[in-house]
Amino acid sequence: MTRQPRPPEPPEGQCVARVARLGEARSVLRAKDATTQAGFTAERIPQGLFARRPILIDDGPEHLEHRKQLVRFFSPRTLEERHRAFIERTASDLVAEAVRAGRCRVDELALTCSVRVAAQIVGLATGSDRGLERRLEAFFRQPPVDHTRADHGRTRADWARAARRALGPLAALYWRDVRPAIRARRARPADDIISHLLAQGYRPREILVECLTYGTAGMVTTREFIGMALWRLLDDPELLAHYRSSEPPERLALLSELIRLDPPVAHLYRRVRATADGCPHAPGTLVDVDVRRANTDPEAFGPDPGAVDTRRGLPAGARTGLSFGDGAHRCPGSHLALLETEVLLTALIDAGAAIEHEPDLGFDTLVQGYRVRDFVVSFGTAGGRRDEPAREGPGR
Ligand code: HEM
Repeated sequence: MTRQPRPPEPPEGQCVARVARLGEARSVLRAKDATTQAGFTAERIPQGLFARRPILIDDGPEHLEHRKQLVRFFSPRTLEERHRAFIERTASDLVAEAVRAGRCRVDELALTCSVRVAAQIVGLATGSDRGLERRLEAFFRQPPVDHTRADHGRTRADWARAARRALGPLAALYWRDVRPAIRARRARPADDIISHLLAQGYRPREILVECLTYGTAGMVTTREFIGMALWRLLDDPELLAHYRSSEPPERLALLSELIRLDPPVAHLYRRVRATADGCPHAPGTLVDVDVRRANTDPEAFGPDPGAVDTRRGLPAGARTGLSFGDGAHRCPGSHLALLETEVLLTALIDAGAAIEHEPDLGFDTLVQGYRVRDFVVSFGTAGGRRDEPAREGPGR
């Protein structure tokens, strides 16, 4: 059973290939010279708009070079040595504040936490980051989009509305966050992404879209996963007991199972290049990778792929299925996302968080992922569920 809204089926007659087996999906995502990014409305963004395209919608050798230089900011070692203490402090401050208030909205708390942490690594946290989460959130108030249609399911008026709605938050992000950060980093370079981009000769508007990419690709997805994972844990006493009694590595394995089963980005899209070698689909085809189905492929995950089971014997990189993508665009922030989720969830659970109000689930068509909203927990000693009304849990 699922309560998650699903994206629309591709319209008949379009050249769309749906891929739901993990092995096939991996080959498409790894065929880096044979496909290009077709998600996140990448194909609507004119090639000449930026001298350097934002990482998420770029392809080819420059994209790979860009990634190579960025991975160091997100390596497990860098996160442990340079960022773990900040993540723990941020989580503990936010949870202490929530405990003092007696309750909190998890979706708000998770957004604040993921934005503060990512802003630190990107270099946006220059003291003026109050309200940054609101500016990023505003960017998502967009007309719905259908990535499988040539017109993306939008009329001209929808596109004009989308541009108008994006411009305000983009301008605010520039003036309030990115410009002060660029000035600060020009005066005193630091070991962060903005300093790195400046050293590479990026111009302010290219840095702006790069920051927006981290905002949307990173902070927003992490927020949704934190909400979903906490909901699953607090709703299931056995799972919660398992989490509470485990050491961090086992907790991370548990969270990997949860993100496999509830991927925050449920569809990935690629366009097969005209001269495609090594891709089983015809040139021009839009490949729609169904992450949720690929992540429950019994061939890859065993006979009961829908169960939460940390003993599947899979290597760490394979446990999350395709929830962090694969190949040329694989998420560089996957370790960070799981680390901060583990730290924040543990702090909330240790503080005795219990469900006071079940979340409402929505669906974001741009990201192709769930939205967890109005999820309220309050704090007592037992944790889990405050009372036991007859209700529907987060089962799928
Ligand atoms: C639970 C949280 C997260 C999820 C589920 C997630 C998921 C994804 C997925 C599926 C992709 C690949 C998209 C594609 O192949 O078309 C991606 C790319 C990306 N993610 Fe994440 N992400 C998360 C957190 C983060 C964080 C915390 C950051 C950094 C602050 C981040 C930064 C990025 C970037 C920069 C890309 C683009 C990489 C490229 O195109 O080469 N993500 N993410």
